[in-house]
Amino acid sequence: MESLVAADRIAGRCAELGREITRDYSGKDLILVGVLKGSVMFLSDLMRHIDLPLTVDYLRVSSYGDRTESGGVVRFELDLSQPVRGKHVLIVEDIVDTGLTVHYLLNNLATREPASLKVCTLLDKPSRRQKDVPIDYRGFQVPDTFVVGYGLDYQGRYRNLPYIGRVPAS
Ligand code: IMP
Ligand code: MG
Repeated sequence: MESLVAADRIAGRCAELGREITRDYSGKDLILVGVLKGSVMFLSDLMRHIDLPLTVDYLRVSSYGDRTESGGVVRFELDLSQPVRGKHVLIVEDIVDTGLTVHYLLNNLATREPASLKVCTLLDKPSRRQKDVPIDYRGFQVPDTFVVGYGLDYQGRYRNLPYIGRVPAS
């Protein structure tokens, strides 16, 4: 499989982002919110580089309808296990593509009155953006192509690849 982002570049970026997050959240009550399933590998590497007391929680959402049309419906399949009121919430995503998922999550989690709410994504694919969402920490920008690996899947597969690749056209 063609590699777009090699494993050692990902590792280096996780260390850099971890240092930034450590600096920015010093003295704050931080909750990392991993968006299942795609963010799992990124989250596990990233958090090793965050030198702060923190907690980790997970949620899972799914999108329905034609994702090429705006107004795709996003729904919770699994919600957080704890309230986030008064805590500093950092959403950890695998990729921001149309932006619909993160837009929905920001609106939904904001109603729970966290002390702050920010977004960290490994990959940013701005070409198909429909909702202009703020991205506070970004690993890499990727071109308008379907990517897999390092947590990201195509029909459930390739999540275990240690690098980001591009599925060959069949
Ligand atoms: P969005 O709501 O369009 O921003 O997309 C969010 C979700 O779509 C991501 O969290 C991924 O699960 C999935 N996704 C979008 N683009 C890709 C891709 O290139 N490869 C794998 N999954 C993707
Ligand atoms: Mg995802």
